[in-house]
Amino acid sequence: MSLIHRNVPLATMDFQWWNPTRIIFGEGKVRDLADDLDLDWNFDGKEKVFVVSDQGVKGAGLLDYLLDSLKGGSREVVGVFDQVLEEADRDQVYEITRKAKEVNPDVWIALGGGSVMDACKAAAVLESNEGDLEDFVGLYLVEEESKPIICIPTTAGTGSEVTWGAVIMDRNEKTKLIIGDYKFIPKVAVLDPELTRTLPAHLVASTALDALTHSIGALASEDRQDLSSAISLRAIEMVADNLEEAYQNNSTNLDVRSKMLIAACMAGIAFQTALPGADHGIGHTAGALHELQHGLAVGIANLYAMEFNMKAVPHVYASVARALGVKDDGQSDEALGMKGIERLKELYTRVGVKHTYKDYGFPLDSETMENLIEQSMDDPCMAFNPVGISRTPEFEQLIKNCIGV
Ligand SMILES: NC(=O)c1ccc[n+]([C@@H]2O[C@H](COP(=O)([O-])OP(=O)(O)OC[C@H]3O[C@@H](n4cnc5c(N)ncnc54)[C@H](O)[C@@H]3O)[C@@H](O)[C@H]2O)c1
Ligand SMILES: [Fe+2]
Repeated sequence: MSLIHRNVPLATMDFQWWNPTRIIFGEGKVRDLADDLDLDWNFDGKEKVFVVSDQGVKGAGLLDYLLDSLKGGSREVVGVFDQVLEEADRDQVYEITRKAKEVNPDVWIALGGGSVMDACKAAAVLESNEGDLEDFVGLYLVEEESKPIICIPTTAGTGSEVTWGAVIMDRNEKTKLIIGDYKFIPKVAVLDPELTRTLPAHLVASTALDALTHSIGALASEDRQDLSSAISLRAIEMVADNLEEAYQNNSTNLDVRSKMLIAACMAGIAFQTALPGADHGIGHTAGALHELQHGLAVGIANLYAMEFNMKAVPHVYASVARALGVKDDGQSDEALGMKGIERLKELYTRVGVKHTYKDYGFPLDSETMENLIEQSMDDPCMAFNPVGISRTPEFEQLIKNCIGV
């Protein structure tokens, strides 16, 4: 890696690093799952499996691929829930929990994107704990460890396969419930690039923006440290080098598909110890108010959050620019950081992503804008933004920039 991050004082003198998920990467790893579970994966005696997935994944033939691969091993699939909605739904989490309690599984397998993985994690929490989902919203509020979860991502974006978070949409309240606790962090993540082959181009683009935003958000996070920063910078480079080719040829180019899947996982590892800030605070809220695809919602917010934060962490965004491939001519960090934002906008355009929420039909009425301002200020990610968030004219302008008004 070239010198993309300058020597700067530590941002924090106090941090923990904990990434316990076993990561298995390779084409065909899902095909070999039954055999591998019987090897040294510590799944001995855990025979009853509950699988969570969704209709898009099923329609792409991936659920059958998994279920076929599990046949013949010592594991029995005792339940399948394949109806998870985009942006995991609170009521569905209860439905999954109820079905799982009927069959008392030993292991959970989530096969899908972030929506499926998060629905599975939340259901696993409810299955092993008394209480409502709302009781666990926040950090470290889960009492009992969940049963082991194996996550198999089919998008290259969220990194949820290695994180201690679950984000669930409450459609009645138009809000996202965010649960963070190590008690349900996946035991195993199986990264099989065969599974992202069927991802449509627009989802290749939008889910990759989530990975990119996690990496940039982790670099700028109030909790940033060099372990997460090193991983973030490499993830940014990988997305910058491969996204366009993935957008055009994801289904035929195994190399590029693999790199995107690894980069998304790396971004997950990075951000779970250095949570992103306003990019996700605003993105979560915009997604809840208007059901914007998560990657689009956070990716768009990131463009303007970087501008908003520039004065506080110009050296961070200069590093982002270098990782994106912007030439460093010795200009100031701020000038280089601004070029990084321009480079991001160009990249978005090349993969068909627009730059404002308005472009995706986000409502322009004043009530929705007010909700976006007020609700996003309450999002837990805001505490990690490098500039403190309160209702200032600058913050209101940031929200207007995201919407495009
Ligand atoms: N827990 C975390 O750490 C974390 C991090 C980031 C985002 N999230 C959450 O993840 C969710 C978004 O997940 P996502 O971006 O992966 O999208 P998604 O899971 O909502 O999937 C989007 C669509 O793609 C389809 N799809 C998925 N894989 C496919 C494949 N291989 N072939 C064809 N179609 C496929 C799905 O059926 C779905 O219709 C949001 O709810 C977000 O809040 C969680
Ligand atoms: Fe995200």
